[in-house]
Amino acid sequence: MEREPTYIEHLNRHEGETVTLKGWLYNKRASKGIFFLILRDGTGLVQCVVTQDAVDEATWQAADEATQESALEVTGTVRRDERQVGGYEVQATTVRLLHRAEDYPITPKEHGIEFLMNHRHLWLRSRRPWATLRIRNRIIMAIHRFFQERGFLQMDAPILTGNAVEGTSTLFEIDYFDRKAYLTQSGQLHGEAMAMAFGKIYTFGPTFRAEKSKTRRHLTEFWMIEPEMAFYDLDMNMQLAEDLIVHIVQTVLREARMELEVLGRDTAPLERVRPPFPRVAYDEAVEILRSDETARMIEEKIEALKEEETALKAEMEANRKRYGQAKKAEKRRIDAREIEIHRRLAEIEEDLRNLPQWAESARNFAWGNDFGGSDETVLTWHFDRPIIVHRFPAAVKAFYMKRDPEDDRLALGMDVLAPEGYGEIIGGGERATDLAFLERQVQEHNLPPEVFDWYFDLRRYGSVPHSGFGLGLERTVAWICGLAHLREAIPFPRLIDRLTP
Ligand code: 4AD
Ligand code: MG
Repeated sequence: MEREPTYIEHLNRHEGETVTLKGWLYNKRASKGIFFLILRDGTGLVQCVVTQDAVDEATWQAADEATQESALEVTGTVRRDERQVGGYEVQATTVRLLHRAEDYPITPKEHGIEFLMNHRHLWLRSRRPWATLRIRNRIIMAIHRFFQERGFLQMDAPILTGNAVEGTSTLFEIDYFDRKAYLTQSGQLHGEAMAMAFGKIYTFGPTFRAEKSKTRRHLTEFWMIEPEMAFYDLDMNMQLAEDLIVHIVQTVLREARMELEVLGRDTAPLERVRPPFPRVAYDEAVEILRSDETARMIEEKIEALKEEETALKAEMEANRKRYGQAKKAEKRRIDAREIEIHRRLAEIEEDLRNLPQWAESARNFAWGNDFGGSDETVLTWHFDRPIIVHRFPAAVKAFYMKRDPEDDRLALGMDVLAPEGYGEIIGGGERATDLAFLERQVQEHNLPPEVFDWYFDLRRYGSVPHSGFGLGLERTVAWICGLAHLREAIPFPRLIDRLTP
């Protein structure tokens, strides 16, 4: 039997020892009589030094022939070296070329996002996706730990269903033995049945929305975590959502520092994710949106962006003047910076185009409407941490929501909005408990009552107050990692125009 190799993340346990690493060549530098092989094995990167005088001919040749992403086995001695990534270096004694890679399509130069997405199966090996998806894993584990420690049972809802949950406009319909079936939009209704059986449960599964719009915030397939609790009212529900978010962010800050650093994530806004999150009633949110204060904030944002634009253009101009006389390394730095500046300028240009519309939308926001993405963003500018908006107009919310006993126009829904423009990461609320009310709601929403009959049983046999919510995993990952688009928050994104790889 083969032995497991030593993993790069465990090199600190092997200082001074001889280890065998297996992985892929990330990068290579050559100097006279020396190769520096940067090896990656999925757990990290390490520099392996191959000195011609110290190795046999076969090893020297393997190091010489190894191309980017060739598979390698490296045996050598582990040395502490503060200056290296990960803090260690391996002085190689033997290198075996397990597979020599053809010309690798993803080179250290800048590629466009479409190119990278078309090569997502390979792009996963690069630093940014690697760090992002390791954080995703941390978040998943943090979520399980949070619920398991609080006595919740993880229960799976079906993926093939006969009913809509969140409205019929985003249903994926499939042919199910000559009947219509749908890919689930949410496990909630089945979650409610399981909560009546087990008390506190959470589902953790894939959900599907035929989102016709191409936005940075929508996938057609995404993962949702949906706790559902018997005997929880709206306030308890909001408290649970707050506790969960704080737990996730604190865990990532504690356990994934290195990954956040790879992403260049400014952690200051994450450090501020502490209880209590402001509770903002919908009515109040509308007032904030229409306020002079909001108009002023948008004005200030426009001014700041214009200033940044001017400064970046000046920097680019100065760099170009310097370029002629610059040394090679300096030229490389200027080139890299130029790419960065271009990207930022494009963002600024887009924002400057959109912001006047944001101001319009906020100023004229009509009571009764649902918030758009820009409204959510502007709203969160008023706070330094996530906020919980609650008590929405019933007309914009799903059929199953309980009405506010104080005001029948309102539903006891709640959304958690993340800061920094990330918008809604959680949607949920308290559920209606009255059978007659729900039957009327199903009718008014033009939903077929027969497929909800089993759901109505939950209101026939021991109907009790209960609540729950859905946390979008990719929205959470995108926010915590500081990603511009949800597509990078999942290994293989599914979008309206993307089904491969
Ligand atoms: O607000 P939503 O639609 O709520 C529900 O589905 C409820 N049934 C959940 C419940 O109460 N059990 O979706 C919940 C969350 C959103 O806040 C968002 O984070 C995420 O799911 N989400 C999406 N994420 C990615 N792409 C999409 N198209 C998403 N639609 C919703
Ligand atoms: Mg929602």
